[in-house]
Amino acid sequence: EKGGYPHFMLKEIMEQPEAFRKAVFPRIKDGRVVLEDLHITPEYIRNIQKIDIIACGSSYHVGMVGKYNLERLLRKSVEVVLASEFRYCDPLVDEHTLVIVISQSGETLDTMAAMREAKRLGARTLSIVNVVGSSIAKESDDVLYTWAGPEIAVATTKAYSTQLAVLDLVGLYFADLLGTIEAEEYCAIVEEMLCLPAKMEEVLKKTEDVQYFASRYFNHASVFFIGRNLDYALGLEGSLKLKEISYIHSEAYASGELKHGTISLIEPGTLVVALGTYAPLFDKAMSNVVEVKARGAEVLALTTDSFREKMEKTADSVLCIPDTHRMLQPSLGVLPLQLFSYYVALQRGCDIDKPRNLAKSVTVE
Ligand code: M6R
Repeated sequence: EKGGYPHFMLKEIMEQPEAFRKAVFPRIKDGRVVLEDLHITPEYIRNIQKIDIIACGSSYHVGMVGKYNLERLLRKSVEVVLASEFRYCDPLVDEHTLVIVISQSGETLDTMAAMREAKRLGARTLSIVNVVGSSIAKESDDVLYTWAGPEIAVATTKAYSTQLAVLDLVGLYFADLLGTIEAEEYCAIVEEMLCLPAKMEEVLKKTEDVQYFASRYFNHASVFFIGRNLDYALGLEGSLKLKEISYIHSEAYASGELKHGTISLIEPGTLVVALGTYAPLFDKAMSNVVEVKARGAEVLALTTDSFREKMEKTADSVLCIPDTHRMLQPSLGVLPLQLFSYYVALQRGCDIDKPRNLAKSVTVE
């Protein structure tokens, strides 16, 4: 049932291009995003004052990417709140708030409770869920399914990718309705979305580099992921994935925060995974690489084809992904990070599909 793969996680990583196609392609018609499963009215969308995204774990990290993308597309304030915090923080939510709830299982207790609280306060809820007919899907005002198929490995991969894709579609759909996006950019993003599965396949076909770096770095005791903007959001997911299945201590920081404390942890040989895929801030990403290198860090960088040469001059090791629209770059960037965690965990002999102390669906508080 693992389709010839040694682990469900690897099988599910490899299924991502197809899962992305299933989640996205039927929702693009003649170059336009069509979300037929939504009941929310254009009038409601126009009156939204703010958007709250609520989720846990990796689904929360999807929300982090979504915050950057939705705010840029919609020019509306977007907050991402951990479900376990939202339910106890007396949230500022009312009938002009749209609450987007993200959950693979649709059964995460904190997420469910936070959604109920949001509804009680008058917000409209839109869930992005994988498991059809799950509690969150049933109770939310609107549901967009991710259609990723069953995800067995505890560490989420294809659910993450499809949640991200669906959230991007929501952003485009709303931006079109609100008139907050130029026609040219809208078309460029849609076109790039249609190219993404092929680009994902390209990344997933060439796993030798990732395997090599995993075999080189699997013995590190601690890893720091750094990045700015979408790369920061991506780093959060890369770090969670690594610690979850390989039990290596890892943390993700917004690069600009390094000087505010974290850099004191960098000593000769410390492994830093530097994310430099977000083109508008590539130069800043580079200067952070220089900064940690100067303190002796070993830097494994992730960047895009067009920045490879520049990055290779400074970082110790470089992984590359194809270029795409900047908003979609995390959809490609997450793949080598998932593979890196997988191969590191493999080298360390970990129980990859069922990491210790974790459950696929967290139905207790
Ligand atoms: O089913 P959900 O998306 O609500 O689950 C949320 C988290 O428990 C989940 O993403 C968790 O962090 C994963 N194991 C990460 O790989």
